[in-house]
Amino acid sequence: MNKNPIYCAVDTSDLENAKSIIEKVAPYIGGIKLGLEFFTSCGLSGIEQIKKYDIPLFIDLKLYDIPATVEKSLKNIMNFEPLYTTLHISGGAEMLENCVRIKNELNSKTNLIGVTMLTSFDNQGLHKIGIDRAIKEEVKILSELAFECGMDGIVCSPKEIENIKSSFQGNLKIITPGIRGQSDKSNDQKRTLSAKDAIEKGADVIVVGRPITHSEDPSTAAQNLYNELM
Ligand code: C5P
Repeated sequence: MNKNPIYCAVDTSDLENAKSIIEKVAPYIGGIKLGLEFFTSCGLSGIEQIKKYDIPLFIDLKLYDIPATVEKSLKNIMNFEPLYTTLHISGGAEMLENCVRIKNELNSKTNLIGVTMLTSFDNQGLHKIGIDRAIKEEVKILSELAFECGMDGIVCSPKEIENIKSSFQGNLKIITPGIRGQSDKSNDQKRTLSAKDAIEKGADVIVVGRPITHSEDPSTAAQNLYNELM
């Protein structure tokens, strides 16, 4: 059996709720993604508690600051030995290269993943922040920078997977949120696709949050996804 690519985004401010979701979905997922909502509420001790489940961790804090600050923050994150962690590629080459150097110095197995464009953006939203290129083009430019700086992979929407896969011939891991089935609400996600289509197009990891965590029965929702893919 292939490695389970389903990472459940446990986006909650409540540690007990996080644990309850994880205990329901654990048999069907390949990893747990903890992001800003969880971190700003449950903190480092919360991450420590989730680490005890011994399920691969994805710490998704999307670092973006001056190179020295990001480098030190990344070191702190690496103490938890996550399998994946994220940095904004738009932080620039120096920031990314410093992070790759730190990873190598620490002999860390953490995959450094660059965020291209948030999946909540569409072309109109991009225009409003002063970027006139189309999302597809912007994602390609940022992915090239991530690759040149030695990053392990990128986050992009399911719509951009094929383009990235063919441009980098599998040399960048592709992590994809914005996963929605036909009956799921899109919420704030603008560029979505089903889990199966995302994997067929070449995603290495799919991040699924609300379709599992906000469903009436998270265990069944996760199991259905697992059955669809594995
Ligand atoms: O609930 P939903 O399935 O939309 O969750 C998507 C998760 O992926 C959220 O935790 C969000 O922070 C994250 N994410 C995203 N777009 C990115 C990077 C991460 O939606 N570009």
